[in-house]
Amino acid sequence: MESILRTENLCKYFGGLKAVQDVSINVSKGIIQGIIGPNGAGKTTLFNVLTGTYNSTKGKVYFKDRNITNFKPEKVTKLGISRTFQNIKLFKNMSVLDNVKIGFHTQTKTKMLDAIFHTKTYKNDDRICEERGQELIERVGLSDLKEEFASNLAYGNQRKLEIARALAVNPDILLVDEPTAGMNHIETRNVVELLEKLNSEGLTVIIIEHDMSVIMNLCHSILVLNHGQKISEGSPEQVRRDENVIEAYLGREE
Ligand SMILES: Nc1ncnc2c1ncn2[C@@H]1O[C@H](COP(=O)(O)OP(=O)(O)OP(=O)(O)O)[C@@H](O)[C@H]1O
Ligand SMILES: [Mg+2]
Repeated sequence: MESILRTENLCKYFGGLKAVQDVSINVSKGIIQGIIGPNGAGKTTLFNVLTGTYNSTKGKVYFKDRNITNFKPEKVTKLGISRTFQNIKLFKNMSVLDNVKIGFHTQTKTKMLDAIFHTKTYKNDDRICEERGQELIERVGLSDLKEEFASNLAYGNQRKLEIARALAVNPDILLVDEPTAGMNHIETRNVVELLEKLNSEGLTVIIIEHDMSVIMNLCHSILVLNHGQKISEGSPEQVRRDENVIEAYLGREE
């Protein structure tokens, strides 16, 4: 299958701590790729290096065969890689709708001066952003809350808003870091269904998740990290049966 995102011996060290060590992964276009591993395994750090939030210590990242290693986050986003954060990063004093509209504005022709003087370009772009923002908010199930400040949303709804905002840049690949953390069963199911739907429409998804039932049902392929290293990789069935995984991760939950 065609590769969309690939790493070669990727490393991220914090001083003496090897948070990500020699991780090579090849994500096929159109799949849902899971990343699991115990707390501190390096999952979020891997996302941070993939998206340019951190520079890598060593190794390479390729997006559609283009070397994007250590590109700035804005550039990575523009190329088509979008993400959500484990520690939610919303504009707390802005409405739900405005949080999503900001994502769209990065794609429009509006320049700073247009925004300040509310020029025709700005008004036109703003109307388009508003329409598309409403659509996305509806998709994640937040329509009733669109005028609320982000800070007033329940934790689960903030996570949904993060997904909506990440989608606003119309990415080819979406990286979600524990999207169902803090959600009840129904909310979790909604997010799972949303990710499945987006994937069926062609979006490649990489998901970090602790909820094993989510991971096992959703993912086509799973990467397992432990102490920064890849210890297993394969289908949910392969990973579930892998002794290394049982010992390092699943076994700890029993
Ligand atoms: N900015 C940083 N500076 C120093 N150490 C860091 C930094 N970010 C992460 N680490 C360390 O790197 C290791 C991997 O952390 P990371 O957050 O990637 O783990 P994780 O797999 O996402 O864990 P969790 O499941 O708890 O979210 C940990 O030991 C963590 O303390
Ligand atoms: Mg993490």
